[in-house]
Amino acid sequence: MVKPLRHPFRTVVVTGVPGVGKTTVISYLEKMAKEKGIKIKVVNFGTYMLNTALSEGLVKNRDEIRKLPLRKQLGLQERAARRIIEDASNELGDEGYLIIDTHALVKTPAGYWPGLPAHVLDELKPDMIAVIEADPELIAKRQERDVTRFRSDIGGPEGVRKLMEYARAATLASAVRYASTVAFIENPEGAPERAAKELLERILEL
Ligand code: AP5
Repeated sequence: MVKPLRHPFRTVVVTGVPGVGKTTVISYLEKMAKEKGIKIKVVNFGTYMLNTALSEGLVKNRDEIRKLPLRKQLGLQERAARRIIEDASNELGDEGYLIIDTHALVKTPAGYWPGLPAHVLDELKPDMIAVIEADPELIAKRQERDVTRFRSDIGGPEGVRKLMEYARAATLASAVRYASTVAFIENPEGAPERAAKELLERILEL
């Protein structure tokens, strides 16, 4: 039997280095879409991994996930992807947009870890992978200013630049498996709603 290449709803994976503002951009996107009467479900991949890890007593907070042994992360990653699609299928049925806030690459003590490897893509089947970007200097400043979150040190603007470069390569590699489009979206300083508007325009073309 031929496996379907897409879910009935559109699946949009939104990536970006920690602190670039993708969660902020997605919250504007959700508001704008709802105002237009568009059916939309937003999920955070890390939250699905965290809830699984918490229930298994593996971590105490979100940022400990990336420090877990990779074999533990692998299992969490796989279960998170499967549960996201189960929940989206129940909620969206056969229409609308599933927006997944996640990472193309996660910096771990054992090396860079792909956020969208084959077993994740086989569940998600993304129509699009969006990459939210901004000037590395600004991202480093946003990370410093954001006292609501503890983020692992990425290494200042130079570390952010390097992670962005590798994440771009990882995103393009992930896009090949399901012929996902890749959309690079700039999140301009002080105007995340502009990035959200551009992202909305692009997903409506899917
Ligand atoms: P996750 O929850 O995604 O956390 P994170 O990477 O630490 O940080 P965020 O991604 O939440 O930052 P953000 O870019 O969304 O920025 P925000 O909008 O908050 O992931 C947690 C963990 O889960 C990962 O580290 C990983 O371990 C794991 N994980 C997730 N997906 C995985 C996968 N697929 N495989 C394996 N592991 C996975 O904004 C930051 C600040 O900037 C805020 O203060 C905001 O107000 C400000 N800001 C935003 N936009 C602007 C703007 N335009 N101008 C000025 N300020 C702005």
